[in-house]
Amino acid sequence: MEQETNGVVRLIHKGEEESQAQEDIWNCIFGFTEMAVVKCAIELGIPDFLDTHQQPVSLNKLSNVLGCSASLLYRILRFLTNRGIFKEVSTENGETGYVQTHVSRLLRRDGENSMAALVLLESSPVMLAPWHYLSARVAKENTAAFSAAHGKDVWEYAKTNPEHSKLINDALACHARVTMRAIIDNCAEIFKGIESLVDVGGGNGTTLSMLVKAFPWIKGINFDLPHVVSVAPHCHGVVHVEGDMFDSVPNAHAAFLMSVLHDWGDDECIQILKNCIEAIPKDTGKVIIVEAVLEGKIGKEKSLKDVGLMLDMIMMAHTSNGKERSAKEWAHILTEAGFSRHSIVQIPAIECVIFAYP
Ligand SMILES: C[S@@+](CC[C@H](N)C(=O)[O-])C[C@H]1O[C@@H](n2cnc3c(N)ncnc32)[C@H](O)[C@@H]1O
Repeated sequence: MEQETNGVVRLIHKGEEESQAQEDIWNCIFGFTEMAVVKCAIELGIPDFLDTHQQPVSLNKLSNVLGCSASLLYRILRFLTNRGIFKEVSTENGETGYVQTHVSRLLRRDGENSMAALVLLESSPVMLAPWHYLSARVAKENTAAFSAAHGKDVWEYAKTNPEHSKLINDALACHARVTMRAIIDNCAEIFKGIESLVDVGGGNGTTLSMLVKAFPWIKGINFDLPHVVSVAPHCHGVVHVEGDMFDSVPNAHAAFLMSVLHDWGDDECIQILKNCIEAIPKDTGKVIIVEAVLEGKIGKEKSLKDVGLMLDMIMMAHTSNGKERSAKEWAHILTEAGFSRHSIVQIPAIECVIFAYP
């Protein structure tokens, strides 16, 4: 057997392949432990506490402050340091101590680039339950996995469960903060001359408030369902408008949709996009879409390809008809919705930015 790594062909013996298969299958079977233990570390507040200390923190100090069993905490830290999530170093008096790494800094509850809320959402019992219905979804097509688990779709569920709705909005906001920084740094040109921008399915307004801060000439309209808008915090330069994007979209010079279209099937996306075209000027208007593009950037880079394909599975488990799309699939829905042209711009994020013109 031959295997190519970075252009080097290596001969692999049959025994090696079998032991690699054993390792791979154990990793597959117990892969969930990483998310579960990371969730535990966030809930205990380990990243937050280490972050407030410049020096390595000993196990005793950490267990005392957090009120944990030292022996159980040691095992949690041993697992996470082995994965590079925390780092073990000696304290001043020679004890074993722990410090943050680049990964664990992303797990602070409210750090600038915090991804903690996303971990807490995806590891919640509500979001894990639909995975048990994935095979039924694939076999029968008509049974959406989230609805099979909870009796309604994710947005209806959020409407009647304020706690879960908060979990969703916080998670989306932390993802939005990371992606928006990449957009603001790399696509500033495109926002010149846009006087008003409607963020369709804008969640709690995090995205728009960042855009309006970076480009203060923009009047922001954050458009989402009533139960989302009613609890959205006040954001300077942004008005919150409630409604249903399948009925209509508020008028603006441009429309913005981030991580919205991947929640829906092609016909639903075409309907939303037609409503966006209705809302913007025919001659100077544009629609800015932020979504993953499979087989584009993420086709080339293995790690991003993996994330894109994982996201596609998340869409299958958590939405009725949602999916991640290739450049060809995006071209299809944009043309069907009535756009005359579009371009796809790669940014340093999982998503690309798609500019579409009526
Ligand atoms: C995946 S979230 C994306 C939120 C935000 N754009 C972001 O990236 O953080 C999808 C959003 O679409 C909203 N949404 C779902 N159905 C909607 C509808 N019919 N009309 C308006 N918004 C809707 C949800 O409430 C949610 O905030």
